[in-house]
Amino acid sequence: MARTPCGWISIALVSIAMTALAMHAASADPITAPHPVPSIQDTETPAERDARMRWFREARFGMFIHWGLYSIPAGTWRGEKISDNGGEWIMNQAEIPVADYKALARQFNPTKFSAHEMVGLARKAGAKYIVFTAKHHDGFAMYDSKADPFNIVDATPFKRDVLKDLAGEARAQGVKLGIYYSQVQDWAAPGGNQWPAIGKRPMKRSSARWDPAQEGDFADYVHHKAIPQLRELLTQYGSFPDYLFLDTPAPEMTPELAGEIVKVLNLHPKLIWDDRLGGGYAGDTQTPEEKIPAQGLPGRDWEACMTMNGTWGYKADAQDYKSSAELIRNLIDTASKGGNFLLNVGPDASGQVPKPQIERMLAIGKWLKVNGEAIYATQATVLGDSASWRSTTAEDKLYIHLLQWPGQRLHIDKVPREVTGAYLLADVHRRPLKVVHDGDGIDVSLPAKTPDPIATVLVLTTTQKK
Ligand code: GLC
Repeated sequence: MARTPCGWISIALVSIAMTALAMHAASADPITAPHPVPSIQDTETPAERDARMRWFREARFGMFIHWGLYSIPAGTWRGEKISDNGGEWIMNQAEIPVADYKALARQFNPTKFSAHEMVGLARKAGAKYIVFTAKHHDGFAMYDSKADPFNIVDATPFKRDVLKDLAGEARAQGVKLGIYYSQVQDWAAPGGNQWPAIGKRPMKRSSARWDPAQEGDFADYVHHKAIPQLRELLTQYGSFPDYLFLDTPAPEMTPELAGEIVKVLNLHPKLIWDDRLGGGYAGDTQTPEEKIPAQGLPGRDWEACMTMNGTWGYKADAQDYKSSAELIRNLIDTASKGGNFLLNVGPDASGQVPKPQIERMLAIGKWLKVNGEAIYATQATVLGDSASWRSTTAEDKLYIHLLQWPGQRLHIDKVPREVTGAYLLADVHRRPLKVVHDGDGIDVSLPAKTPDPIATVLVLTTTQKK
């Protein structure tokens, strides 16, 4: 049927509108633009989200494990120390040819690795979950991957699937299992992306390749390696993983490619995943690195990940460690702002966690044995901050983490609850401390000496103000 002039006009108007809409969507901020594939965060109800996030929000403390072939060079390559980056960046910083780096696999035989001991370290430290590097930016899979032979079972004399061992021990010891996967950077696979290492080559192009063997199409890499490996990681270890820590997004990870990964993640509706996929997906957790946001990240689940000595992967010369006291106070500070603290260990080429890292993890565990009630399953402070203390919140208690001993009297202004009593968490007899109400504030009488110079927890029992 012939179209009338107004018919053609309406078709033209509709097509103009459709084009404008498409241009708006393409130009809109990627985070707010509609996702090509809705993620679970787009579709679940607040109640469903709270149920899915519950264990993570209660955990408050996890142990990151960065372990891979990079533990063999341990920060030095043919005499060049990679000073600007963590040990796990050595292939990039030293521009190691793919063939030379892959050859390291033939000597990787970490016979001192014990999954029982490694998961046991997390448990003794009071960590409620571990996050293990299944594949880092170097492209080497620390698990039995059918998708790529460059993995610990097929390419090394060790031949053991360490992720399988860790998953078995995590299940046996009651620790949640997270998997770290570098879905964008892959320095050994054709088409994988390479961020320029800090201190090296200025960003000449979106990818800073140094070996022709890395040439290839990024989408092909995502289709032939990243997605198949994510599929196997999400299915070959039973109900695990509970948490997926993706890393280093890049412009090449378009909303459409990221959407293809989201389709895989959507097959695992209990899975929690982070904010580093790319393609405009915010994920579940924000992941500040080596710092604790001063005001926390209100309205967002978040996890501050941190090293003890400035490197994620093992570096033999990285001996400048944060003290146990500083690490415990970082845990307290993070919890007081409503976040999780993910503290890193980096096993060496023999499969052992360096002693200074074991000592610090055990020191944290010792503190949590006494004070864990003031960390696990708590909420952020309702008292603001003080230079000398932090606070965490429970339904009928406020926990004051005293970092500097105030002497025999502590004053707190504006307590938004009725304080019905006070005692020190370290006091097994919970002897009541004198509380004097002073307007909206309180004064609490304290013993002359602190029971724990790192942090002593004062418990205020409370009811809601009438
Ligand atoms: C950065 C580093 C990476 C490390 C990660 C931990 O992305 O590039 O090596 O695994 O931080 O958050």
